[in-house]
Amino acid sequence: MLVALRVRYNPLIFRTTFKSCLCLSTSAPNKPPTIPLLGQKYPTDSSTNITSAITDKLARNLYLEPAHPLGILRSVVERHFSDFTALSGWSPLVTPSKNFDDLGFPEDHPGRALTDSYYINRDLMLRTHTSAHEVEVFSRGERRWLLSADVYRRDEIDASHYPVFHQMEGARVFPATPAGMAEVEEDNARLTAHLERSNIVIEDVPHISATNPPQPTHDLRHAELVALNLKLSLNSLMLSLFGGRTGTSGEPLRVRWIEAYFPFTTPSFEVEVFFHGKWLEILGCGVVQQQTLNRANVPDNISWAFGLGLERIAMILFSIPDIRLFWSKDPRFLTQFAAGEITTFKPYSKYPPCYKDVSFWVPDTGLHDNDVFDLVRDTVGDLAEDVKMIDTFTHPKSHRTSRCYRINYRSMDRSLSNEETNDLNAAVVSRLAEAFGVEIR
Ligand code: DAH
Repeated sequence: MLVALRVRYNPLIFRTTFKSCLCLSTSAPNKPPTIPLLGQKYPTDSSTNITSAITDKLARNLYLEPAHPLGILRSVVERHFSDFTALSGWSPLVTPSKNFDDLGFPEDHPGRALTDSYYINRDLMLRTHTSAHEVEVFSRGERRWLLSADVYRRDEIDASHYPVFHQMEGARVFPATPAGMAEVEEDNARLTAHLERSNIVIEDVPHISATNPPQPTHDLRHAELVALNLKLSLNSLMLSLFGGRTGTSGEPLRVRWIEAYFPFTTPSFEVEVFFHGKWLEILGCGVVQQQTLNRANVPDNISWAFGLGLERIAMILFSIPDIRLFWSKDPRFLTQFAAGEITTFKPYSKYPPCYKDVSFWVPDTGLHDNDVFDLVRDTVGDLAEDVKMIDTFTHPKSHRTSRCYRINYRSMDRSLSNEETNDLNAAVVSRLAEAFGVEIR
């Protein structure tokens, strides 16, 4: 069984030698000198932490499939912003500079850490967000654009977290001139009239406040007009996505704006929508930091931008209960969807889960949760439904720390036998010991 899994989850290679790169807290002597990604070879170094469970996903491009929920949602957003340039197909391999520095992330931002992001080597990483392409798109002179892509983050394992997911970035640029501001005002009047005719209730916050300040180089009136254009444009998108659907039918759609913080925008906001009885976080947005536009060589402009997670919204709109389903090749999943249509997913029978607990002494050098999660994914793929640390304690005499993780094994397409689950768990246990030097209890 494990051999079959290996082939299935690891067609690319290097499980036996490459696994040592998971071991961030100890040295990694057996790393191959290069790794193949998207048809090219890249040198490894001490920063390399990408696993084969991840490399297998690089070429899937789920968001480009027209009848896949992610592709359908992308096309709904693109249809809404029909006069925006829709960009896609951009390589996920970016420099840390593009992903972070260009956007004003501080040197010590936690997102840069090896425990949070996937690095091919110290100079190349998998983008963690679509904002990584802002400078490049702005520098092409695009004034209204959307960019959809796969993004990668090291994270926990459960029904709503997956290390690969998809985002859409959108932005609109205006010349910071009287003519540019006249264009904003005209668009604001059009959108206001549209929203006044619609069944929507908006809880707003000020466009600008002491805690959500304008940028020193911006004319205050320009910043206010552009922030208003951002809000009106996104309220209108929320109506297209959520208005009049079950859960809100008859009732007005409720949208709430919240002050937020992002290194690359100010003022910044988050948008939430009340759907099926709950407030749901939908996206982040704001007025783009001037230094991003300056870097892109379009300094005399002012822009808004937003970024939304496709899985999060698709799970709500299509009633998809587990994020792993997006990766399923099971016809019982795939045949339920048709291009251009948001429909409700009918779950097929769930197969029984099987819990296994793994307890071990943590090595003195420490061990990050994400290292454990990535090792589990790399070993058993999507057969792990969730992984939780359920217990930890430090021995009073030896001062050693013990941790216990509970792994819930469940396949989405078939029943796993007890023997198979034991094999999977045994493989996890032996790789944990091998890669991190933990002592199994
Ligand atoms: N890149 C952010 C993230 O991944 C989302 C985001 C926030 C994008 C604000 C934006 C923005 O363009 O203006 O969490």
